[in-house]
Amino acid sequence: MSTPITERLDDPEAARESGRRKMDWARQHMPILAALREEFEADRPFAGETVGMAMHVEAKTAVLAELVATGGAEVAITGCNPLSTHDDVSAALDAVSGVTSYAERGVDDEAYYAAIEAVIEHEPSITVDDGMDLVAAIHEDYPELINSIVGGAEETTTGVHRLRAMDDDGELDYPVFAVNDTPMKRLFDNVHGTGESSLASIAMTTNLSWAGKTVVVAGYGHCGKGVAKKAAGQNADVVVTEVEPRRALEAHMEGYDVMPMREAASVGDVFVTTTGNRDVIVEEDFERMADGVLLANAGHFDIEVDLDALSDLAVDTYEAREGVRTYELDDGRRLNVLAEGRLVNLATPIALGHPVEVMDQSFGIQAVVVRELVERGGEYAPGVHDVPDDLDREVAEIKLAAEGVEFDELTDTQREYMDSWQHGT
Ligand code: NAI
Repeated sequence: MSTPITERLDDPEAARESGRRKMDWARQHMPILAALREEFEADRPFAGETVGMAMHVEAKTAVLAELVATGGAEVAITGCNPLSTHDDVSAALDAVSGVTSYAERGVDDEAYYAAIEAVIEHEPSITVDDGMDLVAAIHEDYPELINSIVGGAEETTTGVHRLRAMDDDGELDYPVFAVNDTPMKRLFDNVHGTGESSLASIAMTTNLSWAGKTVVVAGYGHCGKGVAKKAAGQNADVVVTEVEPRRALEAHMEGYDVMPMREAASVGDVFVTTTGNRDVIVEEDFERMADGVLLANAGHFDIEVDLDALSDLAVDTYEAREGVRTYELDDGRRLNVLAEGRLVNLATPIALGHPVEVMDQSFGIQAVVVRELVERGGEYAPGVHDVPDDLDREVAEIKLAAEGVEFDELTDTQREYMDSWQHGT
Protein backbone atom coordinates (compact mmCIF):
# COMPACT_ATOMS: atom_id res chain seq x y z
CA MET A 1 0.00 0.00 0.00
CA SER A 2 1.28 3.43 -0.93
CA THR A 3 1.74 6.34 1.48
CA PRO A 4 1.06 10.03 0.79
CA ILE A 5 3.91 11.74 -1.13
CA THR A 6 4.79 14.00 1.82
CA GLU A 7 5.99 11.00 3.82
CA ARG A 8 8.44 10.05 1.05
CA LEU A 9 10.21 13.36 0.37
CA ASP A 10 13.53 14.45 1.89
CA ASP A 11 12.53 18.10 2.16
CA PRO A 12 8.73 18.26 2.00
CA GLU A 13 8.50 21.95 2.94
CA ALA A 14 10.77 23.04 0.06
CA ALA A 15 8.79 20.83 -2.31
CA ARG A 16 5.49 22.23 -1.06
CA GLU A 17 6.70 25.80 -1.55
CA SER A 18 7.81 25.13 -5.12
CA GLY A 19 4.57 23.27 -5.89
CA ARG A 20 2.47 26.04 -4.38
CA ARG A 21 4.12 28.62 -6.63
CA LYS A 22 3.33 26.51 -9.69
CA MET A 23 -0.29 26.17 -8.56
CA ASP A 24 -0.56 29.93 -7.90
CA TRP A 25 0.63 30.67 -11.43
CA ALA A 26 -1.81 28.19 -12.98
CA ARG A 27 -4.70 29.45 -10.85
CA GLN A 28 -4.15 33.03 -12.12
CA HIS A 29 -4.80 31.83 -15.68
CA MET A 30 -7.83 29.63 -15.01
CA PRO A 31 -10.85 31.96 -15.03
CA ILE A 32 -13.36 29.13 -15.44
CA LEU A 33 -12.15 27.34 -12.32
CA ALA A 34 -12.06 30.71 -10.52
CA ALA A 35 -15.74 31.31 -11.33
CA LEU A 36 -16.64 27.80 -10.20
CA ARG A 37 -14.61 28.29 -7.01
CA GLU A 38 -16.85 31.21 -6.04
CA GLU A 39 -19.92 29.05 -6.61
CA PHE A 40 -18.52 26.01 -4.79
CA GLU A 41 -17.26 28.02 -1.81
CA ALA A 42 -20.75 29.38 -1.34
CA ASP A 43 -22.73 26.19 -2.02
CA ARG A 44 -20.33 23.41 -0.84
CA PRO A 45 -22.00 21.02 -3.34
CA PHE A 46 -19.63 18.12 -2.63
CA ALA A 47 -19.95 18.00 1.17
CA GLY A 48 -19.94 14.38 2.28
CA GLU A 49 -18.53 13.06 -1.05
CA THR A 50 -15.18 11.37 -1.56
CA VAL A 51 -13.65 11.97 -5.00
CA GLY A 52 -10.93 9.55 -6.17
CA MET A 53 -8.75 10.88 -8.97
CA ALA A 54 -6.07 9.31 -11.21
CA MET A 55 -4.71 12.10 -13.40
CA HIS A 56 -1.47 13.76 -14.50
CA VAL A 57 -0.51 15.39 -11.21
CA GLU A 58 0.92 18.74 -12.24
CA ALA A 59 -0.13 22.29 -11.47
CA LYS A 60 -3.36 22.55 -13.50
CA THR A 61 -4.70 19.24 -12.21
CA ALA A 62 -3.78 20.35 -8.71
CA VAL A 63 -5.97 23.44 -9.12
CA LEU A 64 -8.87 21.17 -10.13
CA ALA A 65 -8.33 18.85 -7.12
CA GLU A 66 -8.15 21.87 -4.83
CA LEU A 67 -11.39 23.21 -6.34
CA VAL A 68 -13.21 19.93 -5.72
CA ALA A 69 -11.97 19.98 -2.11
CA THR A 70 -13.15 23.61 -1.84
CA GLY A 71 -16.58 22.32 -2.79
CA GLY A 72 -16.54 20.15 0.33
CA ALA A 73 -15.26 16.80 -0.97
CA GLU A 74 -12.54 14.64 0.47
CA VAL A 75 -10.11 14.13 -2.43
CA ALA A 76 -7.63 11.28 -2.88
CA ILE A 77 -5.44 11.57 -5.96
CA THR A 78 -2.63 9.73 -7.75
CA GLY A 79 -0.98 9.86 -11.16
CA CYS A 80 -2.21 8.28 -14.39
CA ASN A 81 1.28 7.95 -15.85
CA PRO A 82 4.49 7.17 -13.98
CA LEU A 83 6.43 9.99 -15.67
CA SER A 84 3.98 12.90 -15.65
CA THR A 85 3.85 13.69 -11.92
CA HIS A 86 5.56 16.80 -10.57
CA ASP A 87 6.58 15.76 -7.06
CA ASP A 88 6.59 19.35 -5.75
CA VAL A 89 3.03 19.88 -6.96
CA SER A 90 2.00 16.53 -5.51
CA ALA A 91 3.46 17.61 -2.15
CA ALA A 92 1.71 21.01 -2.29
CA LEU A 93 -1.55 19.26 -3.11
CA ASP A 94 -1.10 16.80 -0.26
CA ALA A 95 -0.94 19.82 2.07
CA VAL A 96 -4.28 21.23 0.84
CA SER A 97 -7.03 20.70 3.38
CA GLY A 98 -9.17 17.70 2.41
CA VAL A 99 -6.69 16.35 -0.18
CA THR A 100 -4.35 13.33 0.03
CA SER A 101 -1.90 12.91 -2.85
CA TYR A 102 -0.10 9.62 -3.50
CA ALA A 103 1.42 10.63 -6.85
CA GLU A 104 5.19 10.35 -7.29
CA ARG A 105 7.26 10.67 -10.45
CA GLY A 106 9.24 7.72 -11.80
CA VAL A 107 7.66 4.96 -9.73
CA ASP A 108 7.75 1.37 -11.01
CA ASP A 109 4.61 -0.53 -12.02
CA GLU A 110 4.13 -2.01 -8.56
CA ALA A 111 4.26 1.36 -6.80
CA TYR A 112 2.08 2.93 -9.51
CA TYR A 113 -0.72 0.42 -8.94
CA ALA A 114 -0.23 0.50 -5.15
CA ALA A 115 -0.98 4.24 -5.31
CA ILE A 116 -4.15 3.56 -7.31
CA GLU A 117 -5.20 1.08 -4.63
CA ALA A 118 -4.45 3.63 -1.93
CA VAL A 119 -6.87 6.05 -3.63
CA ILE A 120 -9.52 3.34 -3.84
CA GLU A 121 -9.07 2.56 -0.14
CA HIS A 122 -10.60 6.00 0.52
CA GLU A 123 -13.83 4.45 -0.87
CA PRO A 124 -14.62 7.15 -3.44
CA SER A 125 -18.24 7.99 -4.22
CA ILE A 126 -17.08 9.61 -7.50
CA THR A 127 -14.08 8.74 -9.71
CA VAL A 128 -12.23 11.08 -12.06
CA ASP A 129 -9.91 9.23 -14.43
CA ASP A 130 -7.49 9.99 -17.25
CA GLY A 131 -7.10 6.64 -18.98
CA MET A 132 -9.61 4.56 -16.95
CA ASP A 133 -7.19 3.01 -14.46
CA LEU A 134 -9.45 3.70 -11.46
CA VAL A 135 -12.59 2.35 -13.08
CA ALA A 136 -10.69 -0.79 -14.18
CA ALA A 137 -9.14 -1.41 -10.75
CA ILE A 138 -12.45 -0.89 -8.94
CA HIS A 139 -14.32 -3.29 -11.24
CA GLU A 140 -11.57 -5.91 -11.06
CA ASP A 141 -10.49 -5.74 -7.43
CA TYR A 142 -13.05 -3.76 -5.41
CA PRO A 143 -16.47 -4.62 -6.90
CA GLU A 144 -18.02 -4.29 -3.42
CA LEU A 145 -17.52 -0.51 -3.70
CA ILE A 146 -19.57 -0.13 -6.88
CA ASN A 147 -22.94 0.19 -5.12
CA SER A 148 -21.79 3.26 -3.25
CA ILE A 149 -20.25 4.96 -6.33
CA VAL A 150 -22.51 7.61 -7.87
CA GLY A 151 -20.50 7.83 -11.08
CA GLY A 152 -17.30 8.84 -12.79
CA ALA A 153 -15.74 11.17 -15.33
CA GLU A 154 -13.14 10.26 -17.96
CA GLU A 155 -10.70 12.78 -19.38
CA THR A 156 -9.09 11.23 -22.46
CA THR A 157 -9.89 9.51 -25.76
CA THR A 158 -8.18 6.24 -24.85
CA GLY A 159 -10.06 6.08 -21.53
CA VAL A 160 -13.40 6.70 -23.25
CA HIS A 161 -12.51 4.11 -25.89
CA ARG A 162 -11.79 1.51 -23.19
CA LEU A 163 -14.95 2.45 -21.28
CA ARG A 164 -17.13 2.07 -24.37
CA ALA A 165 -15.61 -1.37 -25.00
CA MET A 166 -16.33 -2.29 -21.38
CA ASP A 167 -19.89 -0.93 -21.70
CA ASP A 168 -20.46 -2.91 -24.94
CA ASP A 169 -19.46 -6.06 -23.06
CA GLY A 170 -22.00 -5.22 -20.33
CA GLU A 171 -19.17 -4.93 -17.80
CA LEU A 172 -19.39 -1.25 -16.80
CA ASP A 173 -21.42 -1.12 -13.61
CA TYR A 174 -21.71 2.61 -12.93
CA PRO A 175 -22.31 5.72 -15.07
CA VAL A 176 -19.26 7.51 -16.45
CA PHE A 177 -19.28 10.80 -18.36
CA ALA A 178 -17.14 10.99 -21.50
CA VAL A 179 -15.63 14.38 -20.67
CA ASN A 180 -13.15 13.89 -23.52
CA ASP A 181 -15.92 13.95 -26.12
CA THR A 182 -17.46 17.35 -25.36
CA PRO A 183 -16.72 20.23 -27.76
CA MET A 184 -15.25 22.34 -24.95
CA LYS A 185 -12.69 19.63 -24.25
CA ARG A 186 -11.89 17.85 -27.46
CA LEU A 187 -11.86 20.76 -29.91
CA PHE A 188 -9.38 22.66 -27.75
CA ASP A 189 -7.45 20.32 -25.45
CA ASN A 190 -6.82 17.50 -27.94
CA VAL A 191 -6.22 19.80 -30.92
CA HIS A 192 -4.52 22.95 -29.63
CA GLY A 193 -3.27 21.61 -26.31
CA THR A 194 -1.61 18.50 -27.72
CA GLY A 195 -0.32 20.38 -30.75
CA GLU A 196 1.29 23.22 -28.84
CA SER A 197 2.63 21.26 -25.88
CA SER A 198 3.99 18.30 -27.86
CA LEU A 199 5.94 20.58 -30.19
CA ALA A 200 7.17 22.73 -27.31
CA SER A 201 8.28 19.69 -25.34
CA ILE A 202 10.11 18.12 -28.29
CA ALA A 203 11.86 21.39 -29.16
CA MET A 204 12.93 22.09 -25.58
CA THR A 205 14.04 18.53 -24.89
CA THR A 206 16.20 18.37 -28.02
CA ASN A 207 17.10 22.04 -28.59
CA LEU A 208 16.42 21.42 -32.30
CA SER A 209 14.51 23.50 -34.83
CA TRP A 210 11.31 22.58 -36.67
CA ALA A 211 12.03 24.72 -39.72
CA GLY A 212 13.01 22.69 -42.76
CA LYS A 213 12.30 19.34 -41.07
CA THR A 214 9.87 16.71 -42.29
CA VAL A 215 7.49 15.86 -39.48
CA VAL A 216 5.52 12.62 -39.79
CA VAL A 217 2.27 12.73 -37.82
CA ALA A 218 0.71 9.29 -37.32
CA GLY A 219 -3.07 9.60 -36.98
CA TYR A 220 -5.06 12.59 -38.22
CA GLY A 221 -7.63 12.66 -35.43
CA HIS A 222 -8.05 15.52 -32.98
CA CYS A 223 -4.52 15.36 -31.57
CA GLY A 224 -2.93 14.66 -34.96
CA LYS A 225 -4.66 17.69 -36.50
CA GLY A 226 -3.22 19.89 -33.79
CA VAL A 227 0.30 18.49 -34.11
CA ALA A 228 0.20 18.78 -37.94
CA LYS A 229 -1.14 22.34 -37.90
CA LYS A 230 1.36 23.60 -35.34
CA ALA A 231 4.27 21.84 -37.08
CA ALA A 232 3.28 23.41 -40.40
CA GLY A 233 3.10 26.75 -38.56
CA GLN A 234 6.73 26.25 -37.51
CA ASN A 235 7.75 25.85 -41.18
CA ALA A 236 8.07 22.07 -41.13
CA ASP A 237 6.94 19.87 -44.03
CA VAL A 238 4.18 17.65 -42.70
CA VAL A 239 3.47 14.06 -43.70
CA VAL A 240 0.37 12.32 -42.33
CA THR A 241 -0.27 8.59 -41.97
CA GLU A 242 -3.82 7.31 -41.40
CA VAL A 243 -5.93 4.14 -41.52
CA GLU A 244 -9.30 5.91 -41.83
CA PRO A 245 -10.02 6.97 -45.44
CA ARG A 246 -11.97 10.16 -44.61
CA ARG A 247 -9.32 11.35 -42.21
CA ALA A 248 -6.63 10.57 -44.80
CA LEU A 249 -8.60 12.59 -47.36
CA GLU A 250 -9.05 15.45 -44.92
CA ALA A 251 -5.28 15.59 -44.37
CA HIS A 252 -4.70 15.48 -48.14
CA MET A 253 -7.16 18.35 -48.72
CA GLU A 254 -5.45 20.31 -45.95
CA GLY A 255 -2.31 20.19 -48.10
CA TYR A 256 -0.29 17.58 -46.23
CA ASP A 257 1.43 14.63 -47.89
CA VAL A 258 -0.39 11.43 -46.98
CA MET A 259 1.36 8.07 -47.32
CA PRO A 260 1.73 4.75 -45.51
CA MET A 261 4.10 4.69 -42.53
CA ARG A 262 6.40 2.32 -44.42
CA GLU A 263 7.07 5.10 -46.96
CA ALA A 264 7.00 7.94 -44.44
CA ALA A 265 9.66 6.12 -42.42
CA SER A 266 12.28 6.89 -45.03
CA VAL A 267 11.44 10.60 -45.43
CA GLY A 268 10.74 11.76 -41.87
CA ASP A 269 13.07 13.64 -39.53
CA VAL A 270 10.65 13.72 -36.60
CA PHE A 271 7.86 11.20 -35.96
CA VAL A 272 4.93 11.97 -33.64
CA THR A 273 2.34 9.24 -33.02
CA THR A 274 -1.17 10.35 -32.01
CA THR A 275 -3.31 7.30 -32.76
CA GLY A 276 -4.27 5.75 -29.41
CA ASN A 277 -3.37 2.49 -31.15
CA ARG A 278 -0.45 0.08 -30.80
CA ASP A 279 2.49 -0.85 -33.04
CA VAL A 280 2.20 2.20 -35.26
CA ILE A 281 5.97 2.41 -35.84
CA VAL A 282 7.58 -1.02 -35.99
CA GLU A 283 10.77 -2.84 -37.00
CA GLU A 284 10.28 -2.49 -40.78
CA ASP A 285 9.96 1.27 -40.26
CA PHE A 286 13.07 1.54 -38.06
CA GLU A 287 15.00 -0.23 -40.80
CA ARG A 288 14.15 2.56 -43.26
CA MET A 289 14.78 5.57 -41.01
CA ALA A 290 17.63 8.03 -41.43
CA ASP A 291 20.36 8.58 -38.88
CA GLY A 292 19.33 11.02 -36.17
CA VAL A 293 15.53 10.83 -36.42
CA LEU A 294 13.42 11.76 -33.39
CA LEU A 295 10.63 9.41 -32.28
CA ALA A 296 7.94 10.84 -30.01
CA ASN A 297 4.52 9.63 -28.91
CA ALA A 298 1.61 11.87 -27.93
CA GLY A 299 -0.99 9.08 -27.58
CA HIS A 300 -2.04 7.93 -24.14
CA PHE A 301 -0.03 4.72 -23.76
CA ASP A 302 3.61 3.93 -24.54
CA ILE A 303 2.72 1.29 -27.13
CA GLU A 304 2.63 3.29 -30.36
CA VAL A 305 6.37 2.97 -31.04
CA ASP A 306 7.51 -0.66 -30.75
CA LEU A 307 10.36 -0.10 -28.33
CA ASP A 308 10.90 -3.83 -27.73
CA ALA A 309 11.66 -4.30 -31.44
CA LEU A 310 13.90 -1.23 -31.43
CA SER A 311 15.81 -2.55 -28.41
CA ASP A 312 16.30 -5.87 -30.19
CA LEU A 313 17.64 -4.11 -33.29
CA ALA A 314 20.00 -1.85 -31.34
CA VAL A 315 23.63 -2.75 -30.69
CA ASP A 316 23.90 0.02 -28.11
CA THR A 317 21.56 2.38 -26.24
CA TYR A 318 22.42 5.40 -24.16
CA GLU A 319 20.91 8.61 -22.82
CA ALA A 320 21.95 11.29 -25.32
CA ARG A 321 20.29 14.10 -23.35
CA GLU A 322 17.85 14.18 -20.49
CA GLY A 323 14.65 12.71 -21.89
CA VAL A 324 16.30 11.39 -25.08
CA ARG A 325 17.41 7.75 -25.39
CA THR A 326 19.49 6.90 -28.44
CA TYR A 327 19.25 3.45 -30.00
CA GLU A 328 22.32 2.81 -32.15
CA LEU A 329 21.87 0.24 -34.90
CA ASP A 330 24.62 -2.01 -36.31
CA ASP A 331 25.04 0.18 -39.40
CA GLY A 332 25.73 3.20 -37.18
CA ARG A 333 22.32 4.91 -37.51
CA ARG A 334 21.05 6.52 -34.30
CA LEU A 335 17.29 6.62 -33.64
CA ASN A 336 16.34 8.90 -30.75
CA VAL A 337 13.31 8.10 -28.58
CA LEU A 338 11.86 10.86 -26.38
CA ALA A 339 10.35 10.25 -22.94
CA GLU A 340 10.63 6.46 -23.24
CA GLY A 341 7.79 6.55 -25.77
CA ARG A 342 5.37 7.96 -23.19
CA LEU A 343 3.21 11.07 -23.74
CA VAL A 344 5.87 13.47 -24.97
CA ASN A 345 4.09 16.61 -23.81
CA LEU A 346 3.84 15.30 -20.25
CA ALA A 347 6.68 12.87 -19.67
CA THR A 348 9.92 14.54 -20.77
CA PRO A 349 11.88 15.93 -17.81
CA ILE A 350 10.90 19.53 -18.64
CA ALA A 351 7.37 18.77 -19.89
CA LEU A 352 4.62 21.03 -18.63
CA GLY A 353 1.62 19.45 -20.35
CA HIS A 354 -1.04 21.53 -22.08
CA PRO A 355 -1.15 25.31 -21.76
CA VAL A 356 -2.99 26.45 -18.64
CA GLU A 357 -5.87 28.12 -20.51
CA VAL A 358 -6.66 24.89 -22.34
CA MET A 359 -6.76 22.86 -19.14
CA ASP A 360 -9.00 25.48 -17.56
CA GLN A 361 -11.60 24.45 -20.14
CA SER A 362 -11.10 20.70 -19.77
CA PHE A 363 -11.15 20.90 -16.00
CA GLY A 364 -14.09 23.29 -16.02
CA ILE A 365 -16.02 20.46 -17.67
CA GLN A 366 -14.67 17.97 -15.11
CA ALA A 367 -15.85 20.19 -12.26
CA VAL A 368 -19.39 20.69 -13.59
CA VAL A 369 -19.62 16.98 -14.34
CA VAL A 370 -18.72 16.14 -10.73
CA ARG A 371 -21.43 18.63 -9.69
CA GLU A 372 -23.90 16.92 -12.07
CA LEU A 373 -23.08 13.51 -10.55
CA VAL A 374 -23.70 14.81 -7.04
CA GLU A 375 -26.94 16.54 -8.04
CA ARG A 376 -28.39 14.03 -10.49
CA GLY A 377 -26.10 10.97 -10.54
CA GLY A 378 -28.98 8.67 -9.59
CA GLU A 379 -30.75 9.53 -12.86
CA TYR A 380 -27.96 8.04 -14.99
CA ALA A 381 -27.88 4.29 -15.68
CA PRO A 382 -24.57 2.39 -15.62
CA GLY A 383 -22.67 2.96 -18.87
CA VAL A 384 -20.90 5.75 -20.79
CA HIS A 385 -22.79 9.06 -21.04
CA ASP A 386 -22.24 12.18 -23.10
CA VAL A 387 -21.82 15.32 -21.04
CA PRO A 388 -25.17 17.21 -21.16
CA ASP A 389 -24.89 19.99 -23.73
CA ASP A 390 -26.07 22.69 -21.33
CA LEU A 391 -23.07 21.98 -19.07
CA ASP A 392 -20.68 22.35 -22.02
CA ARG A 393 -22.36 25.64 -22.99
CA GLU A 394 -22.19 26.86 -19.39
CA VAL A 395 -18.40 26.44 -19.38
CA ALA A 396 -18.06 28.08 -22.82
CA GLU A 397 -20.07 31.08 -21.64
CA ILE A 398 -17.96 31.51 -18.50
CA LYS A 399 -14.83 31.44 -20.65
CA LEU A 400 -16.15 33.96 -23.19
CA ALA A 401 -17.22 36.29 -20.40
CA ALA A 402 -13.75 36.03 -18.83
CA GLU A 403 -12.15 36.84 -22.19
CA GLY A 404 -14.50 39.79 -22.68
CA VAL A 405 -15.87 38.26 -25.88
CA GLU A 406 -19.49 39.05 -26.68
CA PHE A 407 -21.49 37.00 -29.15
CA ASP A 408 -24.91 37.06 -30.76
CA GLU A 409 -28.12 35.47 -29.54
CA LEU A 410 -30.84 33.95 -31.71
CA THR A 411 -33.92 36.17 -32.06
CA ASP A 412 -37.29 34.53 -31.36
CA THR A 413 -38.01 34.54 -35.11
CA GLN A 414 -34.70 32.86 -35.87
CA ARG A 415 -35.25 30.26 -33.16
CA GLU A 416 -38.72 29.50 -34.49
CA TYR A 417 -37.31 29.25 -38.05
CA MET A 418 -34.49 26.91 -36.99
CA ASP A 419 -36.87 24.65 -35.07
CA SER A 420 -39.46 24.42 -37.84
CA TRP A 421 -39.67 21.97 -40.76
CA GLN A 422 -42.49 23.94 -42.42
CA HIS A 423 -40.43 26.92 -43.62
CA GLY A 424 -38.96 26.23 -47.06
CA THR A 425 -37.92 28.61 -49.81
P1 NAI B 1 -9.01 10.36 -32.46
O1 NAI B 1 -9.83 9.12 -32.40
O2 NAI B 1 -9.64 11.65 -32.78
O3 NAI B 1 -7.80 10.15 -33.52
C1 NAI B 1 -7.00 9.01 -33.63
C2 NAI B 1 -6.70 8.82 -35.12
O4 NAI B 1 -5.69 7.82 -35.28
C3 NAI B 1 -7.91 8.36 -35.93
O5 NAI B 1 -8.12 9.21 -37.03
C4 NAI B 1 -7.53 6.94 -36.35
O6 NAI B 1 -8.08 6.58 -37.62
C5 NAI B 1 -6.01 7.04 -36.42
N1 NAI B 1 -5.32 5.75 -36.34
C6 NAI B 1 -5.62 4.65 -35.60
N2 NAI B 1 -4.72 3.68 -35.82
C7 NAI B 1 -3.81 4.17 -36.70
C8 NAI B 1 -2.63 3.66 -37.31
N3 NAI B 1 -2.20 2.43 -37.07
N4 NAI B 1 -1.95 4.46 -38.15
C9 NAI B 1 -2.35 5.72 -38.45
N5 NAI B 1 -3.48 6.26 -37.90
C10 NAI B 1 -4.18 5.50 -37.03
O7 NAI B 1 -8.26 10.42 -31.05
P2 NAI B 1 -7.55 11.70 -30.38
O8 NAI B 1 -8.52 12.46 -29.58
O9 NAI B 1 -6.74 12.38 -31.42
O10 NAI B 1 -6.58 10.95 -29.33
C11 NAI B 1 -5.49 10.18 -29.78
C12 NAI B 1 -4.66 9.68 -28.58
O11 NAI B 1 -4.11 10.81 -27.89
C13 NAI B 1 -5.46 8.93 -27.52
O12 NAI B 1 -4.65 7.93 -26.97
C14 NAI B 1 -5.77 10.00 -26.49
O13 NAI B 1 -6.05 9.44 -25.22
C15 NAI B 1 -4.47 10.76 -26.51
N6 NAI B 1 -4.52 12.14 -26.03
C16 NAI B 1 -3.31 12.65 -25.66
C17 NAI B 1 -3.24 13.93 -25.17
C18 NAI B 1 -1.93 14.46 -24.74
O14 NAI B 1 -1.90 15.34 -23.88
N7 NAI B 1 -0.83 14.01 -25.32
C19 NAI B 1 -4.44 14.79 -25.05
C20 NAI B 1 -5.64 14.18 -25.56
C21 NAI B 1 -5.66 12.89 -26.03
